[in-house]
Amino acid sequence: HKLKLIEVRSEIGAGTRGASLGPDAIRIASLDFSSRFFKRYPCVSIPDENHLLFESSGDRYAKRISGILTMTERIGEEVCRTLEKGEFPIIVGGDHSIAAGTVAGIRMAFPKIRLGVIWIDAHADIHSPYTTPSGNMHGMPNAISLDEDNLESTLNAPDQETLNFWYQLKNVGGICPKITYENIVMIGVRDTEPAEDHLLEKRGIRNFSAKEIRRAGVEKVAVETLKYLDDCDLIHVSFDVDVLDPSVSRGTGTPVPNGITIKEARTLVIRLMQSKKIGTFELVEVNPTLDRENLMAEQAFDILLRASNQLTHNI
Ligand code: ARG
Ligand code: MN
Ligand code: MN
Ligand code: MN
Repeated sequence: HKLKLIEVRSEIGAGTRGASLGPDAIRIASLDFSSRFFKRYPCVSIPDENHLLFESSGDRYAKRISGILTMTERIGEEVCRTLEKGEFPIIVGGDHSIAAGTVAGIRMAFPKIRLGVIWIDAHADIHSPYTTPSGNMHGMPNAISLDEDNLESTLNAPDQETLNFWYQLKNVGGICPKITYENIVMIGVRDTEPAEDHLLEKRGIRNFSAKEIRRAGVEKVAVETLKYLDDCDLIHVSFDVDVLDPSVSRGTGTPVPNGITIKEARTLVIRLMQSKKIGTFELVEVNPTLDRENLMAEQAFDILLRASNQLTHNI
């Protein structure tokens, strides 16, 4: 059992430029920690589709969706291969659209298991082309994994070509849906649109708000999260750095006030990773072009290091 780093310099899913520099900013941060992290573990880079940013795109309700499909397939194959070799994938983004690829890869490797997802984020990322306010596909990975169109909340009229890609995206790996609503827990989500609120309510998605985290304590939230997902055989942890309070750093594309502290984030991640059911860890949305002195990447590296150490300890 070994850890394997998978770097994904994707930025076509975000609306603000710079998320593709996240993995490199995190590598630079590791030097400040004098850490041998990037020497210790094998690392692969998934080729990106960022050239699409220089072309005009007609798909306004799912921007660069053809590239997102390509990326999802590539990530899925790499994550699947890694899991099949008995290795533990740590995925470093990149914008959050890559999460659809990670979940696809887990499903491709293990079609039959009960798969849980812990979504640590300021956002629910559960939009579809029918509901997105921005067309940015980093706001959609959960809808892709859950096979959710949310037609009841329709605001947009995506064209047929977009919908064909959307259908293909949801069916990557030949399994759709890849996860079910009762097997997802959100932590720190606090910036949602009405279309997303409709789903969170209708489907009864468990969300631990930043307030709840402060009140109950992060330890309790971790325990409750794992208890909630007790039925699952394997759990994916997806960590979007914008769950952190912007006072930590502005180095992310869509910062949101009233986030969790860095201390809470560390404890949360370590405590979650103590569970032997965690099978994959993902960290996304570090954007050094919006930052000062690489602050976000340093915090992100610290979390990545702690998560990895806990895992190495487990396996
Ligand atoms: N809900 C907003 C949108 O869809 C923001 C999504 C932000 N997502 C993220 N992964 N940072 O445009
Ligand atoms: Mn996100
Ligand atoms: Mn987010
Ligand atoms: Mn908003």
